[in-house]
Amino acid sequence: MSTPANSAYDRTPLIAGNWKMNMDHVQGSSLLQHLAEALSEAKHNYGRVEVAVFPPFTTLSAVQTLIQDDGLDLVSGGQDLSPFDSGAYTGDISGQFLAKLGCKYVLVGHSERRTIHGETDETLNAKVHAAYRHALTPVLCVGEGLDIRQAGTHVQHTLAQLRAGVDRLSTQQAAELVVAYEPVWAIGTGEVAGPEDAQEMCGAIRTELASLFDADVAARTRLLYGGSVKAGNAPAILNETDVDGVLVGGASLDAAEFANIAGFERQLAG
Ligand code: 13P
Repeated sequence: MSTPANSAYDRTPLIAGNWKMNMDHVQGSSLLQHLAEALSEAKHNYGRVEVAVFPPFTTLSAVQTLIQDDGLDLVSGGQDLSPFDSGAYTGDISGQFLAKLGCKYVLVGHSERRTIHGETDETLNAKVHAAYRHALTPVLCVGEGLDIRQAGTHVQHTLAQLRAGVDRLSTQQAAELVVAYEPVWAIGTGEVAGPEDAQEMCGAIRTELASLFDADVAARTRLLYGGSVKAGNAPAILNETDVDGVLVGGASLDAAEFANIAGFERQLAG
């Protein structure tokens, strides 16, 4: 049975929408307004959840303005950040800039960055540290490709990514971290890992965090599942003991669908 708002450790469920390279600032403003309306209409329908959106960099300012001016009950995050703080890194975005735009979170190591941009575990660890330098909470993305899943080494593979990502973190930092398990074969494909697959990996990640840090850290760190999450499959995934939220791609571009995912507790109760 789930522990949506885990009583002992307060793992408030995080419903996160990764807009990827969609939504310019005009489209993004409209989507956010529709999302805010859908969430507020459904507010009595869902329990304590945190809803976060991860727009493209150029849409973040518009999102910040709307959240602040309209007092929206939402938070934002960047999709990536530089491992460096400032200087001659053309095209890169400092965590400092994200913090100034009101971001609470930043994605680190999304599989599309690992594969398309060749980001290594070492670079991603530097990005995790850069996030903490600017008071951003990293959402460290890990997960295996289809070949590794078929070879049956998905747990070892994903835990190796985790260990590299959290290298040299303090226990305090590790407790604040969010880890997103996103099996690459389930991203944008319509293939969803079953709730038991999400639980298998999130359980293994929590056990690994306990051995790398301590049991208290492991009990506090929030673990998300991502990969073809929709309103229809989210409740069963979120009902798993070690799944504390979801990282949603395509379905986060539909305000009503995403608001329904945030309302998963109602579906579980019903
Ligand atoms: P989809 O939900 O479109 O499969 O994307 C998942 C994802 O990559 C979120 O970061």
